[in-house]
Amino acid sequence: MIRDLVLHPDERLGKVSKPVKRFEAVGTLVRDMFDTMYDAPGRGLAAVQIGFMQRVVVMDAGWKEGTPTPMVFVNPIITERSDDEVVNEEGCLSIPDTPRRVSRPAQVSLRWQDENGLPHEGTFEGFEAACIQHEFDHLEGRTILDHPEAA
Ligand code: NI
Repeated sequence: MIRDLVLHPDERLGKVSKPVKRFEAVGTLVRDMFDTMYDAPGRGLAAVQIGFMQRVVVMDAGWKEGTPTPMVFVNPIITERSDDEVVNEEGCLSIPDTPRRVSRPAQVSLRWQDENGLPHEGTFEGFEAACIQHEFDHLEGRTILDHPEAA
């Protein structure tokens, strides 16, 4: 189901989301998140952006180029960040038409659970690394507006 997006300056965007402990309803939440993200259209979405204060992120880095790679991150933890940073122009579905150049570590490693609670870990770079960090920010109540505009 396509949900209404929570838009800046809604105060929920500044709040820390809660860890998922019970996974019964996560499948439905994740479906709604993908429906809303693809409709928007975007490549990443955090649960807070449709009003659920839970630590759930969905991402599909390649669908706009015809190579769908849907991924679900429940309770993600960033375990490593590279020292080298890269600047990307990032958009946010909750802050329409306000792209911002943000500098972030080029590579991140993380641990997370899937929608069934099973553990995973992986290392990401390129667009995926930037997107994951952008969405992880949402779980911590941060947005691109909390980052300085990079040169
Ligand atoms: Ni965003």
